[in-house]
Amino acid sequence: MTSPLRIALAGLGTVGSGVIELLNENSQMIADRAGRPIEVIAVSARDKNRDRGLDLSPYIWSDNALDLAAISDVDCVVEMIGGSEGVAVDLARNSLNNGKSFVTANKAMIAHHGMELAGLAESKSVSLKYEAAVAGGIPVIKGLREGASANRIERVYGILNGTCNYILS
Ligand SMILES: NC(=O)c1ccc[n+]([C@@H]2O[C@H](COP(=O)([O-])OP(=O)(O)OC[C@H]3O[C@@H](n4cnc5c(N)ncnc54)[C@H](OP(=O)(O)O)[C@@H]3O)[C@@H](O)[C@H]2O)c1
Repeated sequence: MTSPLRIALAGLGTVGSGVIELLNENSQMIADRAGRPIEVIAVSARDKNRDRGLDLSPYIWSDNALDLAAISDVDCVVEMIGGSEGVAVDLARNSLNNGKSFVTANKAMIAHHGMELAGLAESKSVSLKYEAAVAGGIPVIKGLREGASANRIERVYGILNGTCNYILS
């Protein structure tokens, strides 16, 4: 098995804490399927003392999410903060500029800055992944980009927001 993919995760709310829990609970299965372990090495949120039901002692902590983009042995920064402007988009730009792949669940930021960030990722030969920001994590982006690449899809209609569907049901 190859070396771990080392990630830094910004935002430890509903989504960020859940990501850490799932990576911990399913680490062996994910490593088997991905062909390499995924290792969280650093985290950031505003309040270090907030009880998140997680043991954060294994991770480097920073109150300033932008620090994560500067950690030299981080391969990938994961942003679970939210908001179209401010720290989220600064973190995206800094991470990509520093040659780190970037994963986000932040639909507002992708709506406002997606083209710019995609161009930056391409120019640095790293990945920008935002599947979790669309349709409650249903893998539609990959399906449209790869599985349906021979089709001419002009529009997709429907309620694609997991939170709306949760409320409506
Ligand atoms: N909740 C959902 O069902 C869902 C589903 C799909 C996508 N999303 C998207 O996922 C993202 C996160 O949503 P969420 O529901 O997890 O939000 P949340 O519970 O409000 O969590 C936000 C986290 O960001 C941290 N944070 C805020 N400002 C920060 C800063 N300046 N520096 C560092 N950390 C900061 C907060 O720190 P503290 O904890 O210390 O306050 C908190 O841990 C959003 O973009 C949202 O649209 C959410």
